[in-house]
Amino acid sequence: MSAILLDGKALSLKLQAELKAEIERLKAETGKVPRFMNLVIGQDASAASYGKSQKRVAENVGIDYQFSYLPHGITQKELLDQIHMLDQDPDIHGIMLHKPVPEGIDFQQAVNAIGADKDLEGMNIANLGKLMLGKTKIFPCTPAGAMALLESSGVDIAGKDAVIVGRSEIVGKPIQLMLLEKNATVTVCHSGTSKAGRLIEHVKRADVLIVAMGKPGFIKGEWVKEGAVVIDVGINEVNGKITGDVEFDEAQKRAAFITPVPGGVGPVTAVMLMRNGIEMFKQRSGKS
Ligand SMILES: NC(=O)c1ccc[n+]([C@@H]2O[C@H](COP(=O)([O-])OP(=O)(O)OC[C@H]3O[C@@H](n4cnc5c(N)ncnc54)[C@H](OP(=O)(O)O)[C@@H]3O)[C@@H](O)[C@H]2O)c1
Repeated sequence: MSAILLDGKALSLKLQAELKAEIERLKAETGKVPRFMNLVIGQDASAASYGKSQKRVAENVGIDYQFSYLPHGITQKELLDQIHMLDQDPDIHGIMLHKPVPEGIDFQQAVNAIGADKDLEGMNIANLGKLMLGKTKIFPCTPAGAMALLESSGVDIAGKDAVIVGRSEIVGKPIQLMLLEKNATVTVCHSGTSKAGRLIEHVKRADVLIVAMGKPGFIKGEWVKEGAVVIDVGINEVNGKITGDVEFDEAQKRAAFITPVPGGVGPVTAVMLMRNGIEMFKQRSGKS
């Protein structure tokens, strides 16, 4: 078997076209387009490249996306004041805080200061709480990208064994809840699973395998179940090349569907940020 590639770039373009049509409709109905603000503390290279790709997507779909560069030495209070000001501004419809932040800045406290209806990344405590309750249309962006690729396979995951490797707040934990909402039977593996020598047995029975470890090629192709759907969230740089957490060449011989790295989850993530923002804009303008 040779797996069908779940092409993140193609899905990203398709979703962008849908969002663009939605923005045009909203503009005609409200006279406004959504306006988002990305807060960057200091100016580092990663902010520039990740931010740039987000801005490209935003402009492509017709969103007004701006950066606000804050000084490296900003205090937590000054940052919170800045966030409160933007949160009160009716002309700003979405806010995000670029990561990493300098030492001494409490990232989660700052994200929690963004109103739940302006939280582009879907990571403040109110939005995570709603995710837990299964009552939300706002999702953390990387998990939403992974789920969109999974759904694009057309595989019905209800009742299937879904195994996640990695339990971070930004990927593994939210995906767990999103898979549960789709009625998958979910197992979450982590370093404790490996230490107990039980990672391979869980991976081997996964109908849906989602890997977010940050360890290049850690998941061996021979562990992948025949016919599985494999979503590799990992992004690792090895000898100047970007590679995933799954040993791709071997895994794609066994899987039915697999994401490439690069070109899988990455390109869909930025679109999910825009989708969150548009959903919040719609909710606030009564157009949802
Ligand atoms: N495509 C995207 O848009 C996107 C976005 C975000 C992240 N990523 C990538 O996704 C990867 C994961 O990111 P992250 O932020 O979730 O990483 P993270 O916070 O470092 O979490 C890694 C997870 O992997 C688990 N793990 C590490 N070694 C393990 C082992 N030997 N056996 C089993 N589990 C193990 C850890 O377990 P413990 O909890 O027990 O330590 C942890 O839960 C990275 O490559 C990152 O670059 C991609």
